[in-house]
Amino acid sequence: MDSFEINKILGALLGTCLVLLAVHIASGAIFAPAAPAKPGYVVEVKQEQQPAQPGPAAAPAGQPIETLLASASIERGTEVAKQCELCHNLGKGQGAKIGPDLYGVVGRKVASEPGFNYSAPLKAKGGTWTFDALNTWLTNPRADVPGTLMTFAGLPNEHQRADVIAYLNSNSDHPLPLPKTAQNQPAANPPAGNNNPPAGAKSPPAAAAPAANAPAPAAPAK
Ligand code: HEC
Repeated sequence: MDSFEINKILGALLGTCLVLLAVHIASGAIFAPAAPAKPGYVVEVKQEQQPAQPGPAAAPAGQPIETLLASASIERGTEVAKQCELCHNLGKGQGAKIGPDLYGVVGRKVASEPGFNYSAPLKAKGGTWTFDALNTWLTNPRADVPGTLMTFAGLPNEHQRADVIAYLNSNSDHPLPLPKTAQNQPAANPPAGNNNPPAGAKSPPAAAAPAANAPAPAAPAK
């Protein structure tokens, strides 16, 4: 086999390849692969909420505290406040426990209880404990003031927050007037009015009798 013959064979192979390539290109042009309008499968990638604490997350979502306070209950707030008593005294002049005394905290300057060793971040917060500030703080103290010493998870329930804020406000020498909203008065009055309706001529005896007799039957029962 001389080199001329080898050249012919290689030339034939090369020619074949070129023809195949040409056919491939031509077929691609003829049978253009149309992209499906709708892919057979869709890979959905959920957008991860990357920042664990984006700025506004500290602000409580939901109704404004003014609205919530309109239907808040000091009584229920007293119950909620039991969680706080683990670390806080609530009575006047009782002093600090793990946290500062909360008597009169509504309207008080932030981090201002004399003698309590507040954390630097809380001292740096500044301002006063308004209803609004307390609402944000109690939603998630550590989101509101990163680095605070108050290792309390927070009250995610906005009604519980309003209740405990109403209670804290009442627990003071100078309770602040609750913020007035359009719904405030109407919402607060009807329940009170319904308890002693003049029309309820029949209900007062029913209500009064058990009230008057309650202590007597209750005692023998126990
Ligand atoms: C695990 C203990 C703990 C619990 C429970 C707790 N707190 Fe606190 N609280 C603290 C500490 C500690 C501080 C001081 C925080 C600092 O210096 O960063 C504080 C600070 C505060 C302040 C700021 C007081 C000021 O003088 O500026 C308020 C208001 C407050 N707490 C309200 C509450 C309420 C309301 C509850 C219940 C719903 C509660 N805390 C539950 C430990 C606690």
